[in-house]
Parts: sequence; structure tokens; C-alpha cells
Amino acid sequence: MDKIIVKGGGALSGQIPIAGAKNACLTLMPATLLSDEPLTLTNAPRLSDIRTMTTLLQSLGAEVQALNGGRVLALSSHGLNNHTADYDIVRKMRASILVLGPMLARDGRAIVSLPGGCAIGARPVDLHLRALEAMGATLDLRDGYVHAEAKGGLRGAVFEFPIVSVGATENALMAATLARGTTVLRNAAREPEIVDLAQCLRRMGAQIDGEGSSTITIQGVDRLNGATHPVVTDRIELGTYMLAPAIAGGAVELLGGKLSLVAAFAERLDAAGVTVEETAAGLKVSRKNGRVSAVDVRTEPFPGFPTDLQAQMMALLCCADGVSVLEETIFENRFMHAPELMRMGARIDVHGGTATVTGVDRLKGAPVMATDLRASVSLILAGLAAEGETVVNRVYHLDRGYERVEEKLGAVGARIERVRGDD
Ligand code: EPZ
Repeated sequence: MDKIIVKGGGALSGQIPIAGAKNACLTLMPATLLSDEPLTLTNAPRLSDIRTMTTLLQSLGAEVQALNGGRVLALSSHGLNNHTADYDIVRKMRASILVLGPMLARDGRAIVSLPGGCAIGARPVDLHLRALEAMGATLDLRDGYVHAEAKGGLRGAVFEFPIVSVGATENALMAATLARGTTVLRNAAREPEIVDLAQCLRRMGAQIDGEGSSTITIQGVDRLNGATHPVVTDRIELGTYMLAPAIAGGAVELLGGKLSLVAAFAERLDAAGVTVEETAAGLKVSRKNGRVSAVDVRTEPFPGFPTDLQAQMMALLCCADGVSVLEETIFENRFMHAPELMRMGARIDVHGGTATVTGVDRLKGAPVMATDLRASVSLILAGLAAEGETVVNRVYHLDRGYERVEEKLGAVGARIERVRGDD
């Protein structure tokens, strides 16, 4: 298994290009199942999760071609000949559940493995299923699979999500585009990835209003056409790299960054004493000498502070001046980076969904273990300013969501290298 070695060093300077959003691409790709005409996605990120979704769609008989070095994905489900998403693929990536709604809407049947939990929590899919049942699907759970049917097709429905769910909103939104009649989704997720999906579906001929707000209204149509759609910028990669100069000092310009994608996160950086400026090419983040100030953070659904940036923010606050309280309200077990940061000398008390971080002068490099995608990158960020060498193991987690992290950080002066594992 590869590992990444970071040597704590000086200030950073230069530019980092931000790629297309993993979490947008993972819902845009299954949208190809809604039409038998070609769907082309541009600005696609080159990540292992995208390759996993490619394998899943190909297992269903869809065609997926990665062109232009993977930046362009040419998809077509004209040849769809299998309605079963196998456990072997689904267990590798929970987002596989996003083929359920589109397959059901297109052909009235789908058999999809339940994804199972993951390191950060149980992550059930009950809301996905309840929304589809409200639209007339019959679902039978057996042998670890959801056997879904919609004889005569799905019908429009009014459905209120009891809690905000990104994935369940995406599944229901895609299914509703081909349902007979009108669907109203209440307490829908408002993430930019939902807005991006709605814009792509509209390009395909869907009739959708209200995306980005808590109520999305969809007028079902008989069929959808092909389209070409650019994947929205990845706000989590953006926020992650905004923290690099905040932690290591210096100034870095994030190319393609938009403040509207990370407003709540940028407000917390500003409160901590980090400068965030909009430029013609993106966002420029800088920190003068001296320590950042401690700030409190509470994760919430968009437009609140994103749970996917909580681990990375904690890495900054480990060396802030004062005590910071981080509340994780979305997932039940998303502080696994804390014990690893403590190996580097951080002072963190975790009680349930709350972590209290007391800033120290400087962390010390150490061998650390990555446990999930965002935890792994928070350890790399911590290593940028730590004394000595930090070795992050199990970086396959990292490659799921970050393109060439060592190249992007190395290009702005970080002392970072990837050591190929022996397996
Ligand atoms: C998406 O996961 C993202 N993944 C996650 O990013 C992100 O952390 C999460 O949204 C929250 O923003 C993708 O988009 C592929 P949810 P998702 O449904 O859709 C509970 C990353 O690092 N819930 O909004 O699975 C759930 O357990 C990943 O890129 C149910 O109870 O998240 C959680 O507590 C990690 N029943 C809460 O809702 C359901 O049916 C929010 O989950 C669905 C969810």
C-alpha cells in the first residue's frame, strides 16, 4: 500500500487547480440511465471512485469512455441489459445506491445491493427507499439486496424528508424526472451537487424548479435526451487546499474556486484570522505570521459548514491560539482523525459528537493511519507545519477523493512525496 511522507516546512506559495466535484460526478454518471441517448460530462475528476462508478455502470451494460485523460466521460446506457448492481461493487462505494432511482424510473425494475455501513457511520439508505415507495415503487429487501419494482412506472408524489439527505434527494430527484405527474420534494438537500444535477437533468429535458432550496418540484416527462454537462467545481477539494496556506503560512491561489461554494467555511477561516480574497482566477488564501485564533465549528447541511471539511479544519485548530469546539452533527463517528492527530501532539477531547481542541505551539511529525477519505487528508495538512516527518499510511482512502495530492501540494512548495507500497 502506498504511503505519503510530509516534511514540515516553510510557507507555501503558488497556485493549485481545483478539479470537478467527486460528489457531483458520482450522481451525474448514473443519470445516463435515464436516457438511451449519450450523456457527456466534462471537467470530470480523475479519481478511483469515478473508476468504481464506471465499473458499476459497465456491469449494467452501459458504456462509459474516459476521454482526454479522464477529464471527459462519454456515457451511454443504450445497451442496458442488466438491472442488478452487485454487492462486490456496491460494497466498495456507497454512492452505488444512486443507480437505484434512475434504473427504476427508466425500466420499472432494479436490484441493488444494500451498501452497508462505512467507517464514519451506519449510513442507512431508508430515506432513499421511502422516497421511491412514495412514488409508487414496491421494494422487497432480501439477501442484502433491494428488489425494486414499479409496474406501470413511477408516479409523482409529495414527499417530505424527515432529515436532510444528499443521496436520497439525488435518487428521488432523478426518479421523479420520468414519473407520471408532479413530484414535490420537501426538506430536500441544498448542496451545490444537487443544483449541478438538476442543471444537467434540465439539459436532458427534465422539468425541475427550486433546486438549491428546500423544496424541489419536478414535472415528469415521457423521456429524456442526451446532453453535455460540465461537472461543478469540487468545494471540498477547494476547502481542503484553502487550509494548506492557513496551516503552513504563505499565500496560495485556488484556481476555479468560488466563494459561493464555501461561504460558511470561509467565514470560519476569516474568524480564525485567515485572509480569503476573490481573484479573477479563483480564491487566494493567505496567513500572515503568528498563530490563527481558535474558533468554534458546527457541521450542518449546506449552506452550513460542511461535514466533509470538519477533519481538515480540526488540523488547523490543533495549533490555534486558544480552545476550539467542533460539533459534528451529520455523522455519528467522524472524529477518527482525532487519535491520529493526538499522536502528533494535538490536545483533543472527544465526547460523543463534540471535540474540544486546545491549541499547541507545534505538532510533531509521526507515522499515522488514514481511516477515511477526509481524515487522511487532514493528517497530510497537519504534517505541512509539523516538526519533522509525518508518514500517512493507507493512502488508498486519499486517492478516492483527491487527484495527485502530492503533486498539487508539492507545486506550491510543500515537502511531500508518495512512496509506492510493495503490494
Ligand atoms: C453525501 O453522502 C456525500 N457523498 C458525503 O461525502 C457527505 O459527507 C454527505 O453527503 C453529507 O454532506 C456523496 O455525495 C457521494 P446523507 P450521503 O444522505 O448522501 C443519514 C465524502 O467524504 N441518512 O446526506 O450518504 C446519514 O446516516 C463523503 O465525499 C439516513 O439516516 O449523506 C447521515 O447521518 C462522505 N438515511 C445523514 O443522513 C438515509 O436514507 C446525512 O447523510 C440517508 C442518510
